[in-house]
Amino acid sequence: MSYAIVGFGKIGQALAQAFARKNIKVAVASRRPPEALAPQARAIGPTIVAKSLRDAFEADTIILAIPFGEHREVAKALPSWEGKTVIDATNVFPVPEELDGLPSSAVIAKAFTGAKLVKGFNHLIAATLATDPVVEGGHRVVFLSSDDEDATAPVAALAKQLGFAPVKLGKLNEGGALVHARGSIWGQLIFQDLFKKEQ
Ligand SMILES: NC(=O)c1ccc[n+]([C@@H]2O[C@H](COP(=O)([O-])OP(=O)(O)OC[C@H]3O[C@@H](n4cnc5c(N)ncnc54)[C@H](OP(=O)(O)O)[C@@H]3O)[C@@H](O)[C@H]2O)c1
Repeated sequence: MSYAIVGFGKIGQALAQAFARKNIKVAVASRRPPEALAPQARAIGPTIVAKSLRDAFEADTIILAIPFGEHREVAKALPSWEGKTVIDATNVFPVPEELDGLPSSAVIAKAFTGAKLVKGFNHLIAATLATDPVVEGGHRVVFLSSDDEDATAPVAALAKQLGFAPVKLGKLNEGGALVHARGSIWGQLIFQDLFKKEQ
């Protein structure tokens, strides 16, 4: 499996910390050139590799850590996302009317044609997500939801590898609604920093 984080701001760097903690290689990219991201990537750890967007898109699994409003711009970089898993760590708040009541991740799934889309790693503030998820023998919970049943298992495996306890919520508009904002109300699980004792 190869991984990339697209967006290297607060959430992108928090996720990079998690990869670095476990010595798992991950590409990081944004609109800035890799040379601009490299010092920060190196400061996080040797397994964090700054790349161009084009090179980062070669990864099998791509984590979106960009503003929601940028997703179309990123999605149009490839004509098809067939064979790729896209992990959507974005939030949008308040939810713009143009989403027509759809969960924001369903809108992103449409834009990334052919990808297996899983929403995850979006419910905690970046400062919390950046810290060690193993606390007092428990594992910090991350919630995963997807309309594609097969897509969730490998993302859950990654979350475990990173030290988190993945909790599957089911489809985007079912359990996934708990980690989406609706109008100007956050889903009930957003900002809930939960731990699981045993996995
Ligand atoms: N901050 C939080 O606590 C938090 C918590 C949960 C979820 N989230 C969600 O995570 C996402 C990122 O939030 P953030 O706080 O990390 O934002 P941020 O600090 O502003 O970082 C956004 C990153 O996205 C990159 N970017 C923007 N447009 C891009 C594009 N078209 N292509 C590639 N890269 C692009 C930016 O870099 P360049 O300008 O160099 O391109 C920057 O590295 C948002 O959807 C947010 O709702 C944030």
